[in-house]
Amino acid sequence: MGPPPPAKPAPMTTTLETLAPLHADMTVWRQDIHAHPELGFQENRTAGLVARQLEAFGITVTRGVGRTGVVGVLRAGRSTRRIGLRADMDALPIPEANRFAHRSVHAGVMHACGHDGHTAMLLGAAKYLAQTKRFDGTVHFIFQPAEEGLGGAQAMIDDGLFTRFPCDAIFGMHNRPRLEVGRFNVRAGPMMAGGAFFDIRITGKGAHGARPETGVDAALVAAQIVVSLQSIVSRNLAPLDAAVVSVTRILAGDAYNVIPQTAELGGTVRAFSRDVMDAVGRHMQRLAEGTAAAYGATVEVDFRVRFAPTVNNADEAEFAARICTELVGPENVDRNPPLIMASEDFSFMLEQVPGCYLNIGNGVEDGGCEVHNPAYDFNDRALPLGAAFYARLIETRLAA
Ligand code: NI
Repeated sequence: MGPPPPAKPAPMTTTLETLAPLHADMTVWRQDIHAHPELGFQENRTAGLVARQLEAFGITVTRGVGRTGVVGVLRAGRSTRRIGLRADMDALPIPEANRFAHRSVHAGVMHACGHDGHTAMLLGAAKYLAQTKRFDGTVHFIFQPAEEGLGGAQAMIDDGLFTRFPCDAIFGMHNRPRLEVGRFNVRAGPMMAGGAFFDIRITGKGAHGARPETGVDAALVAAQIVVSLQSIVSRNLAPLDAAVVSVTRILAGDAYNVIPQTAELGGTVRAFSRDVMDAVGRHMQRLAEGTAAAYGATVEVDFRVRFAPTVNNADEAEFAARICTELVGPENVDRNPPLIMASEDFSFMLEQVPGCYLNIGNGVEDGGCEVHNPAYDFNDRALPLGAAFYARLIETRLAA
């Protein structure tokens, strides 16, 4: 018998320990971005920081995808498999209430949704994967502008994101306040609601306040439409199809003695599927037109879907949950978290490419207030968890 064959070295995969040396870098980037927040499609400094760092890691960079978006391309081996990882970069028009050293230097603008952390985590994963290259295929690092209602994801798609940088699957994550650091939430199917905004413009016939019989009261028609719209969820949708219809603006009239000729309603709709969202839009149109006609007025309805519902593919959600479980243990991964009524424009990317969006705990201590609060802050302790998730996902999905 000859000597036993040499043992194959165990394949190294990313753990929280192997990623820990990048924690300091990520913290510096995160706090720098937090201190210099930029609104949607104005992320010039942030995009510049991202592009310079990616280039320093040896990653090929394309700037200006969807105006201020950045895409980094990292290849290893010969496989044609391609995975997209996405972070958002924009801040919000909120004056920051925090007093710590890395607070916003731009009056009235702050990172109140943790997108500074999303960008830093993805940069950390990019640096790590460029150093280690323990995968076979292509990673597309997608840094998106203007997530907060300005259509940054769609702008990148319209600029050819998935034809110039094709992806077999795509993954992204959002920090979640009041979820402990070290925990992840992920589920198959709907994860977050889609959102629409609407405006309804009513035209009646103005008249003297003392002579209603000579006019058509647009204020009365508006009031009837507001009440009618509340029958959509209760009477037109199946009881298990969750949706919200909220009228949030009513504008009519200028004087005590004038019956207004026109009135305007506005509001928002949330739903977890495109079909339900479209149904709400159809019923709204019918109710508004029918109610106005009953009173002799006319209406224009403008119903605009601003966010698609965020719907995870079953296979990709299962895969993401497995990676989270390997990192933090099954007791720290909630595979059936509550649905989230807020919206996320990663949903538009998920309509193009199979993938998964998950939540990473931002902690329950200070900064555990809700996102979009003036005291919000991304928790730097979550940075290595997010970066390790991305790195391990690539090493597993693009295993050599
Ligand atoms: Ni956000």
